[in-house]
Amino acid sequence: MTTKTAATIGAGLREDGAISDAIGTILERAAHYNDQITDTKAADPGLASDFDAMLKRAGENKGRGLLYPSLQTGAGNGALVEMEDGSVKWDMLTGIGVHFLGHGNPKVLEAQLRAGIMDTTKHGNLQTSYDAFEFGEKLVRLASRSSNLKHAFLTTSGAMANESAIKVCYQKHAPASRVIAFSHCFMGRSVTMCQIGDSAGGRQGIPLSTQVDYMPFYDPAVAERMGGETKFIDMSVNHLQDYITRYPGQHACFIFELVQGEGGFNVGTRDYFKALMDVCKDNGIAVWDDEIQSFGRTEEMFAYEMYGLGEYIDVFCVGKMTQACATLYTEQYNPKPGLLSGTFTGATADFTVGNALLDELEHGGYYGKDGKFAKHHALFREQVKGLMEKHPDWFPARPDNGELVGGVGGMMRFTPFGGDKAKVMKACRAAYDEGVICFYCGHGPFHVRMLPPLPVFKEEDWGRVFGCLERALGSVASGS
Ligand SMILES: Cc1ncc(COP(=O)(O)O)c(C=O)c1O
Repeated sequence: MTTKTAATIGAGLREDGAISDAIGTILERAAHYNDQITDTKAADPGLASDFDAMLKRAGENKGRGLLYPSLQTGAGNGALVEMEDGSVKWDMLTGIGVHFLGHGNPKVLEAQLRAGIMDTTKHGNLQTSYDAFEFGEKLVRLASRSSNLKHAFLTTSGAMANESAIKVCYQKHAPASRVIAFSHCFMGRSVTMCQIGDSAGGRQGIPLSTQVDYMPFYDPAVAERMGGETKFIDMSVNHLQDYITRYPGQHACFIFELVQGEGGFNVGTRDYFKALMDVCKDNGIAVWDDEIQSFGRTEEMFAYEMYGLGEYIDVFCVGKMTQACATLYTEQYNPKPGLLSGTFTGATADFTVGNALLDELEHGGYYGKDGKFAKHHALFREQVKGLMEKHPDWFPARPDNGELVGGVGGMMRFTPFGGDKAKVMKACRAAYDEGVICFYCGHGPFHVRMLPPLPVFKEEDWGRVFGCLERALGSVASGS
C-alpha cells in the first residue's frame, strides 16, 4: 500500500534520483570510516587531556559527573563503538537497549539521511507527515497478529508512553484510581511512573499521590522452596484477590512488565501471568503490558507472544529500540478525544529508523526457539558457564539461591560475586575499561546486564567479549 501521494512536489523530493545517488555516496563515505573499526582499542594517551576536559565540562553542565566516561565520536561498526578518548569498545548495552541495530548500520544511516531531507525535524499531533502513521500502522499490524491491539498513540519517551497508558486505563475504569504492579518493576521517571516503579531511590522526596498495590514477580527459587509453581501461583492469586476485596472496584489496571528489565531481567511463566490476568478480566481491571525494555528482544517480537497471552492485553507500551515510543490499545480502550495529545510525536528520523527496525525484526529470522536470538542467548550462557567452571571462586551462591545466569533472548544477565552491589558495579566499570560496555540491574542481588545489538552481533564474537569480561572480573576478584 502506498502511503505517499504521487503527484506532489514532496513525492518528487522523496524520489529524486540525484538525492538517492548523493545518499549512496554519503553511505559509501561513512562506511569508509566505520569499516576501519574492527576490534577493541585502548584509549589514546595523546587524547587524554582533551577527553578529560570534555568530561569535566559535561559533568559541570549536567550538575554531576557522568556515570561512565562515555562520549562517542559518531563512528562505530556493528557492536563496536568509538569513544572520544580514541578507545573502541564492545557495546553490550546499546544506550540501555536503544541501538539494537548497532553502530554505523547503513540501514539506519540511510533512514536518517532520508529523514534529513524533510522540511521539518519534528512532528506533532496536529501537524505531521505520513511517516508517523506509517510507523504506527506497522506497529499495530505486527502487534495485532496475536492480540486485539488496534490503535497507536505515538510519543517521545517510554515514560510518556506509560503516562498515556495509565490515563487510558483510568478513563476507561473511572473512578477507579488504584494501580497494581509487580515488585521491582520500573516504569520511567515521570512523577507518576517513579511512584509506581519499585525503587526507593527513584521516588525519594516525591509526594506520593498514586496508590499502588504490589504483587510478587514470579521467582523460581521461591516457587521451589514453596513446593512448586502451582503453590506460588495459588499464593499470588490469593494475594491479588485480597487486594480486590480490600479495595472493591478501585483498581484501574494491573501493569505487567512481562520480562523485568531494571528489576533484574526476571522472566516469569505463562501459567503465572495467565492466572493473574484471568483475575483481572473477572474483575474489570485493565491488563497493561509495558514492553519498553523487552520488546523485540525475547524469543518472539512481543513478550506477550512468547508467553501466548496476546488475547489478554488491553493496553501496551513500547519504546527504546523502536526510537519512536507508543501506547497501543484495543478498540474498547480507545480514549475519548482530548485525553491524549502533545506538541511532539517524534522526529522524522525516529519514524524512518523505527520503520527500518520493525522491517528488520519482521524479516530477519530472529524469533522462535531456533531463531537467531535464542541461539545468541544459548551462546551467552555457554560463555558464562565456561567462566564459572574456570573461576568458581568468582561465582559464589546468591544469598537468595537464585540462578547465576538468566534472562531471555537479548536480555542477558549473570551474577558474579554473589550479587554484591559494590563488586558488581566495580565489575561493570572494570569491563568498561577492558573494552565492554555493560551495566548492572536488580535491587539485590545485583547482576551484570547486557542488551547487545543482536541483529548485527556475530556469534563468533562472544568469545572476544568474554575475553575482556574475564580480565575485568579477574581484576575485581584480585582487588587490583
Ligand atoms: C520497562 C520500562 N518502562 C519504562 C521505561 C521508561 O522509558 P524512558 O526511559 O524512555 O522514559 C523503561 C526504561 O528503562 C523501562 O525499562
